[in-house]
Amino acid sequence: MRKLAQELRFSLVDQTKMITAASELSRNTIVYGRGGEMRWEIVTKGAQTGLRLAFEDRGPGIPDTNLALTDGWTSGSGMGIGLSGSRRLVNDFELRTVVGEGTCVTITRWR
Ligand SMILES: Nc1ncnc2c1ncn2[C@@H]1O[C@H](COP(=O)(O)OP(=O)(O)OP(=O)(O)O)[C@@H](O)[C@H]1O
Ligand SMILES: [Mg+2]
Repeated sequence: MRKLAQELRFSLVDQTKMITAASELSRNTIVYGRGGEMRWEIVTKGAQTGLRLAFEDRGPGIPDTNLALTDGWTSGSGMGIGLSGSRRLVNDFELRTVVGEGTCVTITRWR
């Protein structure tokens, strides 16, 4: 992951932001989603290059996404800052979830 970000010539700060967000989201996938998968993609928009990561699981889904994205709210024993913090670390953040089916969080950071 860091290598990929380095090859895309992300700044050290941006590399760290993306890696931090990725580790939070993958932890959620494991803890709440009962495991899942991460996909990565290099994306372009005009002259811009970005790194897009998607974390998908077939876990229980999130009943209230506003609540889940609230700083400090956790349904378990976490700190409740994984999702909200990840959102702040990236440029684009998309949360798609269906109760009983699963969750997919997609993040993009542009260089
Ligand atoms: N992939 C997921 N599937 C189901 N529920 C999720 C998923 N990701 C997050 N959640 C729900 O959203 C809540 C908030 O997630 P968030 O990552 O912000 O906090 P946390 O994991 O509880 O604590 P931490 O600060 O340690 O990450 C979780 O407590 C959980 O209820
Ligand atoms: Mg978390």
